Amino acid sequence: MSKPRPSSDPARRAAVLRAQIEYHNDRYYNDEQEITDADFDLLLRELIALEAADPSLIVDGSPTRHPGATRQSTFAPAEHVVAMLSLDNAFSLDELTAWGARVAKLVSEPIEFVCEPKMDGLAISLLYERGQLVRGATRGDGRVGEDVTENVRTIREVPARLQGNRVPQRLEIRGEIYMNLVAFNALAAKQTAANKTVVVNPRNAAAGSLRQKDASITASRELSLFVYQLGVVDGGPELATHSETLEWMRELGFAVNPLIVTHDSIGEVYAQCNALLEQRHGLGYDIDGVVIKVNALSQRAEMGFTSKAPRWAIAYKFPPEERTTILRDIHVSIGRTGRATPFAMLEPVFVGGVTVSTATLHNQDEVARKDVRPGDTVIVRRAGDVIPEVVGPVLAKRPLGLATWEFPTDCPVCEVPLVREDGAANHRCLNASCPARQWSQIVYFAGRGAMDIEGLGDERIAQFVDAGLIVDAADIYALTSDKIEAIPRLGAKSASALIIAIEGSKATPLWRVLVALGIKHVGPSAAQAFAKALRSLDAIFAAPIEQLVAIDGIGSIIAESLKSWIEVPHNARLIEKLRAAGVNLAVEDNRGPREDFEQVFVGMTFVLTGTLATQTREIAAAKIEARGGKVTNSVSKKTSYVVAGDAAGTKLAKAESLGVTVLDEAAFAALLNEAV
Ligand code: IVH
Repeated sequence: MSKPRPSSDPARRAAVLRAQIEYHNDRYYNDEQEITDADFDLLLRELIALEAADPSLIVDGSPTRHPGATRQSTFAPAEHVVAMLSLDNAFSLDELTAWGARVAKLVSEPIEFVCEPKMDGLAISLLYERGQLVRGATRGDGRVGEDVTENVRTIREVPARLQGNRVPQRLEIRGEIYMNLVAFNALAAKQTAANKTVVVNPRNAAAGSLRQKDASITASRELSLFVYQLGVVDGGPELATHSETLEWMRELGFAVNPLIVTHDSIGEVYAQCNALLEQRHGLGYDIDGVVIKVNALSQRAEMGFTSKAPRWAIAYKFPPEERTTILRDIHVSIGRTGRATPFAMLEPVFVGGVTVSTATLHNQDEVARKDVRPGDTVIVRRAGDVIPEVVGPVLAKRPLGLATWEFPTDCPVCEVPLVREDGAANHRCLNASCPARQWSQIVYFAGRGAMDIEGLGDERIAQFVDAGLIVDAADIYALTSDKIEAIPRLGAKSASALIIAIEGSKATPLWRVLVALGIKHVGPSAAQAFAKALRSLDAIFAAPIEQLVAIDGIGSIIAESLKSWIEVPHNARLIEKLRAAGVNLAVEDNRGPREDFEQVFVGMTFVLTGTLATQTREIAAAKIEARGGKVTNSVSKKTSYVVAGDAAGTKLAKAESLGVTVLDEAAFAALLNEAV
């Protein structure tokens, strides 16, 4: 069936237009403008034309009849004296090198390059006459922007009058208005608390805050400014380089980014781009690349401009951390504790260096708060090594009539009704024999943080469960080569490797066996505390609550959780099956936790970052703690060591900048006296 074309039915089209106009009017007055004024005008003009052609289409309260319709582009137009051009982009070393070669050909002397963080905000032009701020204008289409003078006057970093003794008659200065991350997070938190649509990113927040009809709202938002370019100048000092220009701007009282540096070759420039890429999440504000500019103004004059951009500058763009894609559907997964987690099924999108096709949506309230609906175009964000996130829908692209998503009433796997207890954020499947719960429990049991059985990942476990070979975690130990080989795509070689791994796991230290049971609240530290104090699983489960809470690091919530777990007959049977299979259920004399290791790390602080190849960060942390060391999240001068795995990001950069010793995995193993 083909979609009805918009123009085929004028009455219907008029209704659609009215709805869209009302919607965008509402967004606009609520400080959440989604479409440009020009796009808004198109909608309005189309409706006016339809109504003019057929007056019977005019309804009471049509947006063409009430004041909202006359919404002008709010701000007066502001013509730029010198056009505000944009920049050409480079996305790779090759493109950067090609640009370097192009500009080198245009001049005879060697070129010095200035590298500036590319601020992710909005460009502003500030005009000063006899030292006084007389106009602030947005970029607009580059030729004509919007007059936002009253709004920029409320920004602390925009000087009302220029300082120093080199103040020119007339000066136009350009820079970027941005919102730092502290201010952005505070604004987002405030909007969440007030149940308002939440700003999606600092750039939109900065633009929305600046383009306020009521300048007192702009004043209440914390906006900042870095300047980076001159427009028109009458009566300024003689300047030979961009570096001198930046210096003069500082003298006049403007904030100039302190991270701006100069370099002599494209190789160094590229190294600087990578250094900033590493640092980007530790800066406290968003940058989306590096702007590279020729320093000598005489060379710039020789190079000139193309129709849209200067030849003497280029923007090296970082890989995007936000992309839009289609939300195909929302599914619900059931975890080992029965928790039902909605997650987004996305049209795969390459963002933040990986292809993302799913992202958690956490719970029902989160889906409602973000108001994401299957069929929406959504913004997906993945910054650094943070897990991908659906930021929110692009409402301007929402198909009309798109239905909201309803949380399923029943478990998608066992079909038992899901329960959301009063005051709880999560729905749960309470059926202990739900196959999804059992499967997740077995995956967790065999996983890296627990028994760490190599070759027994989620897909293989699914195959064994489907084939009826395993029902609970202890059944893993009843697997034989013959049984495994009967599974499609599993040959004798992988079967025997798996059997060896399963056998080896029987000697897993007690505390990790305890972690593997997946008891709520019993993670590595609690498990180590139990093992250290009571030394066998039987003693741990037999101890009365009073004895458990007397253990250092164990509170009543953990103790009660442990107790209620073992009271479930199914769980008690699991322990007996593990015992019968020969799984270690006690601390062996020569390799128990904590007290069996020399306390060589006492007084030392470690930070773990990136993906470790041979263990999870939790296990690595447990090893450090077992030797008396501490593990923290952030790097400071006091950090003794940073252990960096693959794709380590800002923490590694910070360690390097503070001169903290960085260990790779082999060096860490050596420190632990372990072979990797
Ligand atoms: S210079 C003619 N320097 O990037 C050169 N622009 O993609 C004018 N931007 O419209 C721009 N940081 O809004 C320059 N250090 C920087 C910048 C910067 C961010 C923005 C600016 C510009 C856009 C071009």
